[in-house]
Amino acid sequence: MEQSLSEAIRSSLHEIHVHDLVDSTNLQALRLLESGVRDNHLIVANAQSSGRGRRGRNWLSPAYSGLYMSLLYFFPATRLHAKGADNTHPYQGLSLVTALSVFDALRDFCPDSLGLKWPNDVLVDHRKLAGILLEIRTITDCFPVVIGIGVNLNLSPSQRSKIDRPVSALNEWSDPLPASEMLAGQIMSLLLTNIEHYLRDGFAPFRTCWNSRDIYLGTEVTIDNDRQQLVGKSMGVDTNGALLLQTSDGEERISGGEVFPSLRSAAGVVQQ
Ligand code: BTN
Repeated sequence: MEQSLSEAIRSSLHEIHVHDLVDSTNLQALRLLESGVRDNHLIVANAQSSGRGRRGRNWLSPAYSGLYMSLLYFFPATRLHAKGADNTHPYQGLSLVTALSVFDALRDFCPDSLGLKWPNDVLVDHRKLAGILLEIRTITDCFPVVIGIGVNLNLSPSQRSKIDRPVSALNEWSDPLPASEMLAGQIMSLLLTNIEHYLRDGFAPFRTCWNSRDIYLGTEVTIDNDRQQLVGKSMGVDTNGALLLQTSDGEERISGGEVFPSLRSAAGVVQQ
C-alpha cells in the first residue's frame, strides 16, 4: 500500500505494520501506545481473530475478506480544538470526518445508494459496508487516538448471514474488486488530508457535505443511547458533528447513541 500514498502522506506516518493475523488492529495500536510509541503508526491486517465493533460488538474479520486497519494518531496539542461551549468533544467531529473519508474512497465502486448513518457508519442499500471505531486514551501532554476502520470487501452470503444485522460487501457491487492495498492507501490519503483540514478549521466546513450523504436526513428516526430511546425527525448534524433531532419537546442535540429508522414512520405505530 505504500505505493498508493503520496510522499507527503507517507511522511506523516512513522511506520506501517502489516500483519497476516492479529486479534484486533485497534488492540495492536493500543499495545504500541502502551509500549511507549509517540508517533503516528498504521496497523493493517489480513485477518482479525477478535475484531472489535462499536458498543461492545464483534467485527467479523475473515482472512482477505475485508480491510482491517487502525491509525494510531497523535493530535498536536496546540492544534486540538478546545471543547465547544456546548461541551461537544473534539473527537466527535473526527469520527464523522473519518466516515466521510471512507465514503469518498468507496464511492467509485458503489451505486448511488451509498450513504452515511450518524455517527460514522457507511451503508449501501441501507446495509452496512464499513464501520469505524475510535478509541481514545489520555496521556500527559499528548492526545492519542486509535481510528479503526473495517470495510467488508468479499463476504459470501453464508458469512453475511452470521452477522446479526443487514450487511453488504464490495463484491456485491464491484467486479473486479479494487486491490485492497490501493483502497487502503486511498482511504488513508483522504483521511490524513481531512484530519489536517479538521485540525485547522474544525468540523464546520465538512457539515454540508456530511448532511448531503446522510441517508436519514429529514426522516423520522429513533436514537438509542443505552439509557433511553428518543424519537424525532433527523435534522442533520451541527457544526460540531452532534445530531440535531426535532422531537415533540423541541430540538435535542445528540452526542452519542445509535440511529434506527423509526418504527412509527415505517409501520404507522409508535415505538415502545
Ligand atoms: C462498528 O461497529 O461499526 C465499528 C467496526 C470497526 C471495525 C474495525 S476493523 C479494524 C479495526 N480493528 C478492530 O478491532 N475494529 C476496527
